[in-house]
Amino acid sequence: MQLNGTIRIAVQRSGRLSEGSLALLHQMGLDFEAYDHHLFASCRNLPVDLLFLRDDDIPEYVQDRVADLGIVGSNVVAEQNIQVRRLMDLDFGHCTLALAVPEQSETQSVAELQGRRIATSHPEMLGRFLEEHQVSAEIVRLKGSVEIAPALQVADAVCDLVSTGSTLRTNRLRVVETVTRCKALLVGPAQSDEKKGPLIEKLMLRARSVQEAKRYKYIMFNAPESALDEIRELLPGCKAPTVVQLAEPGYLAVHSMVLEERFWDVVDRVRCCGGSDILVAPVEKYIP
Ligand code: PRP
Ligand code: ZN
Repeated sequence: MQLNGTIRIAVQRSGRLSEGSLALLHQMGLDFEAYDHHLFASCRNLPVDLLFLRDDDIPEYVQDRVADLGIVGSNVVAEQNIQVRRLMDLDFGHCTLALAVPEQSETQSVAELQGRRIATSHPEMLGRFLEEHQVSAEIVRLKGSVEIAPALQVADAVCDLVSTGSTLRTNRLRVVETVTRCKALLVGPAQSDEKKGPLIEKLMLRARSVQEAKRYKYIMFNAPESALDEIRELLPGCKAPTVVQLAEPGYLAVHSMVLEERFWDVVDRVRCCGGSDILVAPVEKYIP
């Protein structure tokens, strides 16, 4: 194994966050190959190496500076008493940490778990949640495969991550309470390394530009010149919309960024102003 990169980024080897992590790194322009059983990959176009690890090990690797950056679930960071810096919230890996019981169980709330056994690999978060709800239950600490604990009769309930819900369904469990929401984070060591600072800044700018871009669409349409004031108000764009004279007198072509959440509303209003021939394109990167 050869690790000669300047920056090492730790990502989950196989699990919920693996695909999203690799997609983000590729969109950030890192050129690498990742195979199932490899523990690391070197980027061809930047001095960056990727380490593929168990998600639970990532904070410690970052704390000990074996890795300079890590992509890990907020649940893992919250669960461990390890000092890492939360550099950026990422917009994937959304899930909940939830209490679940066997489908046929009559339990409807956390209060009814008083005196029962709850299996989890998140004992810290579960402990705090039970305390807040003044419920005392036995926490059965497991490292993995929490979902089979009720079938094995080692627990009456589980406290586990739920993303698509397919793990729960397969194991005939149903959610009774949400403990907390989780998502992927970009983390770094508590103190940054001066030598690595510039490249880390560069990578973070790329990550932000990929994430920002997803919030927008690029819209292009034709409109009568007389509607320009209304259109400017509707589409402030970055500074202002780009307006180009059409070969047809009295008509303009307008280009602008628009927030995805406002998009359909904007389309309706553009049409009301006489806008037509509306084209929409995704935005891949946005660097303000
Ligand atoms: C979590 C959790 C479940 C699964 C739930 O594992 O432990 O196994 O995701 O997802 P679903 O609702 O889509 O079925 P994760 O990949 O976070 O890591 P782990 O194996 O370390 O628990
Ligand atoms: Zn894990």
